[in-house]
Formats: sequence, C-alpha cells, structure tokens
Amino acid sequence: MTLVLGIETSCDETAVAIVADDKRVLANIVLSQTEHEITGGVVPEIAARAHLDHLDGLIEDAMRQADIGFKDLDAIAVTAGPGLIGGVLVGVMTAKAIAAVRDIPLIAVNHLEGHALTVRLTHEVAFPYLLLLVSGGHCQLLIVHGVGKYTRLGTTIDDAAGEAFDKTAKLLGLGYPGGPALERMALQCADPAHALKTFTFPKPLYGQEGCNFSFSGLKTAAKRLIDSMPQDASKPDFCFAFQETVAAILCDRTKNAIEKYLPLRAPSPALVVAGGVAANKRIRAELESLAQKNGLAFVAPPLKLCTDNAAMIAWAGMERLKLGLTDSPDFPVYARWPLDPDAKVASLKSQKV
Ligand code: KG4
Ligand code: ZN
Repeated sequence: MTLVLGIETSCDETAVAIVADDKRVLANIVLSQTEHEITGGVVPEIAARAHLDHLDGLIEDAMRQADIGFKDLDAIAVTAGPGLIGGVLVGVMTAKAIAAVRDIPLIAVNHLEGHALTVRLTHEVAFPYLLLLVSGGHCQLLIVHGVGKYTRLGTTIDDAAGEAFDKTAKLLGLGYPGGPALERMALQCADPAHALKTFTFPKPLYGQEGCNFSFSGLKTAAKRLIDSMPQDASKPDFCFAFQETVAAILCDRTKNAIEKYLPLRAPSPALVVAGGVAANKRIRAELESLAQKNGLAFVAPPLKLCTDNAAMIAWAGMERLKLGLTDSPDFPVYARWPLDPDAKVASLKSQKV
C-alpha cells in the first residue's frame, strides 16, 4: 500500500490529509480560518500567520487519525500554487522539511489539478472528461486529457463565480463565506416565479459564442439592486433570482464547451464539476440535466471534497507519484499557475515567485 500525505494552505483553509492508493482516505482535516469573518474576505497576511499557527498540529492530528507514523509515508504532496503566496510558502516549507528528514519523494501540486482530479478519487472516471472548475478564485472549462494534460476552453475575463456569490452575500449581510449562506437564504424563497419577476440580473456573455465567463457586471448589478432595495424586500427572493442567474450563465457556457468536447469521442463521455461553487445543489442540478440532455455522465465529488481540502492534493500527488512525476526539493511556489500553459489570457500567465 502506498500512502501520501497532502498539505493545502493556498487560501483560507489549513488542510491536511492522508490518502492510500486503494482510494481510502485515512484522514482529511480541514480547518477553515474564522479570522476573516470580521473583514468578510481573506486577508493574505492573516491567513499565512494562521496557517503557520495550525499546520504542525493538524499534521499530528491527521497521523493520529490514520494511526500511522512519519515512517509509513511514501510521499508528500503539497499545493505549490496558485494562491496567496504567504500561505503557499508555509505549506511548501513544511512539506520540504518532512520530505528531507524522511528522504521521501516530494510532489508540487497545482491546486487546480487537485480540484480537477478529485473525482477520480471518489468515482471511476476515465480520461478525457470535460471539467467545469468553479470556485472563489477560478471559473474555467477544461478538457482533462490526463494527469498534467489540459486544454482550457474558457476562463473568466474578470471575476470568478464564487467571488460574485461572496461579494453579494457580504452586501446582503449574510456573512462569510458567502456562497453557502446565499444558498441557504435562497432555499427560503417561497415563490420562485415571483422572485424571478421581481429581481432581474444581467447575464454577461450569455448566448454568445465561446466558453469564457464574466461575472463583474452581475456583481455590480447586484450591488445597485441592493442599494436601491426597499427595507421590506425579500432577501430569499433576491438570493433565489441571483442563484438562478449564475446557474443559467454556467450552463450556457458549459453547453458551448460540450460542443467542443463531443467530437473527441471519449469512450465514457462525462461532465465533471469541481471547486467550491460546485457544492451548490441548485447549480449541480442544472448542470446534471444539461449533461444528461447531451448524453454525458454527470459526476461531482461529494460536497466536502468540492471545497478546498487536502485529500484532493494528496490524491493528485498519488496520481503523479504513480507516473514518476515527482519534484526536486528546490521547486518554486507560484502565485499564478494556469493548468494549460498554452492558455492565451495574458493576465493568467505563469508568474514565478
Ligand atoms: O474551491 P474553494 O473552496 O476555494 C477556492 O479555491 O476558491 O471555493 C470557495 C468558493 C467561495 O467563493 C464560496 O463562497 C463558494 O466556493 N461556495 C459556494 C457554495 N459553497 C462554497 N458558492 C455557492 N453555493 C455554495 N453552496
Ligand atoms: Zn479551490
């Protein structure tokens, strides 16, 4: 049996997991930093310090849960980017230290690859599959041809969908993180038809060619609506209409991506969703129905593996380890690190730190 320890510290979750090559998750600990509740958004310096405070203890906890010692580990996988660089450094330095002391392989994992491959930990999914990766920092459609082999069909030209959820939820005073809070509020909507008539939002790029996304116009429109909303306006109705709009945009862009994916004639065609926003049940349901209409299997990791965690990093590390794709102990960290190096959006170009 091969055991990989995974470490994730690229945003505001300090996470540690231990995964076996038979797909058993022996430990999966996620500490969501509450330090950012006051600001309603992640403060990079505070996040890095919190990772430093908690990471060692969480590694000990994970080893205890899995009932193993450092000597039982076969490799260490760690998020090396993209993300908030202070936090990434905390995880990477810790991983490098353990690997050096134990003299075991080290794997630098792209956080996005962690999300992209999670589904292969929980389901039997064959390459190539179509992936909608939708989180707080990313919104992309990719074809996953294999480990390390991605074609990016589209990305956001401004904000990610999760950011739109978070900012809107903050303006509504729903707390942080905003996505789950907004979804809970939307569930209280009593009259969906009335909600959709009362609150209308723009759908940037909707109906146009291509697979890119844009959410900043939606965010601004939400702010304007909230600013001019009467005191007795229904928050559940607002949230329902907002959520439906995001779902419609995601489905429209994914429909175009399916048209590009189908000619590949994948042996087991599948639409996979990943990233925090994929935890949204309404969005999942809409995407599932779109996949079914187009003859694709719909596969989504369980909710707790959609949001940031270290099991996904350990698993991506496992897949890389099995292919001999390990890294030298001096590998760098990256604030930006696109999965598809040929992706043409200049602002997302790989930037070594
Ligand atoms: O993948 P993730 O944990 O971190 C990033 O890599 O960004 O995604 C976090 C994002 C946040 O924007 C959060 O509000 C959003 O995913 N999110 C949701 C839901 N759960 C998390 N958005 C909508 N509905 C949800 N249920
Ligand atoms: Zn993520």
